Amino acid sequence: MDAIDVLRTKRDGGELTAEQIRWVVGAYTDGVVPDEQMSALLMAVFFRGMTPDELAVWTQAMIDSGERKDLSSLGRPTADKHSTGGVGDKITLPLAPLVAACGVAVPQLSGRGLGHTGGTLDKLEAIPGWRADVHEEAYLRQLREVGAVICAAGNDLAPADKKLYALRDVTGTVESIPLIASSIMSKKIAEGADALVLDVKTGSGAFMKSADDARTLARTMVGLGEAAGVRTVALVTAMDRPLGRAAGNAVEVAESVEVLAGGGPADVVELTLALAREMLAGAGREDVDPADALADGRAMDVWRAMIAAQGGDPDAPLPAPAETHVMTAPATGTLTRLDAFSSASRPGGWARAGPARRTWCRPRPASSGGRGWASR
Ligand code: URA
Repeated sequence: MDAIDVLRTKRDGGELTAEQIRWVVGAYTDGVVPDEQMSALLMAVFFRGMTPDELAVWTQAMIDSGERKDLSSLGRPTADKHSTGGVGDKITLPLAPLVAACGVAVPQLSGRGLGHTGGTLDKLEAIPGWRADVHEEAYLRQLREVGAVICAAGNDLAPADKKLYALRDVTGTVESIPLIASSIMSKKIAEGADALVLDVKTGSGAFMKSADDARTLARTMVGLGEAAGVRTVALVTAMDRPLGRAAGNAVEVAESVEVLAGGGPADVVELTLALAREMLAGAGREDVDPADALADGRAMDVWRAMIAAQGGDPDAPLPAPAETHVMTAPATGTLTRLDAFSSASRPGGWARAGPARRTWCRPRPASSGGRGWASR
């Protein structure tokens, strides 16, 4: 097989065969196809797209580049959530312990920042001592004993995505529906959860700026999940302004703890509960109300145990920002709009900064009523 034939076919708008796709994904993962050829193929996919058949084979090839985990030995239902990424999106932090507190195990293999969006692992690393790397045995033990793990994917989980994700980040090929869908779903299917809830972001701070594209991405991913036997639903939610009042690693951890303590911004609480209800329903526990576990402190107990199990000190002060800048309004008024993308992509923006390098988001939104999920 020749990589040049594969990328010419896609460049010219042709359909790749299953054999070509399996070969090119495998050969790239093994280092036989170099970055420059894969970059050209990714750009061709960016402009030409993929047919449903191509996408199904591409996603399966990414799963097959590693192992699909089997969590049946846990003896309890499992559910996970994935967000397509946004600004101030810290929902995984309160959500995983909340769902675990309701009796459903959450095996969350998370990622780093991509493009202008922050990564869950980068945020948690703001907690002194917390480690993202958890080996297989400790991972299963933590799922059994604590009920939730948020950690880095090992090298055996869709390794093709690890390489492709990094390459897309530097080749301007992130915002492509087939590439996003296959990236997310290969990892989530391989992770082995029974049920999956997708939070597909739309608006200026999302990869999918338009609601139509977000819906297409949502349907594409739900189709891939269902075809692989994972009960999958998607919510399309607003990302036209940052979620909550904090964007940045340590400040997002602090805001998540506020939510677990029964406070926090209304939009973060609302989305956390909505996603928790979907995860519980997917895992067959629609009878449980997650609001109770938030109110009575059980979710906070799981958070503390989850952080401690990975070496973190849930009571340690979070690092203070090295720089702060106070913006004073020139006149009294109401903040009605804070564009998510332009605030995250300012020079020195938080998504690429180290833990707690930057904190900028202080104004309280006039209302959180405009946020919400448009469709399922
Ligand atoms: N998250 C992922 O895991 N992959 C993408 O391509 C985009 C968001």
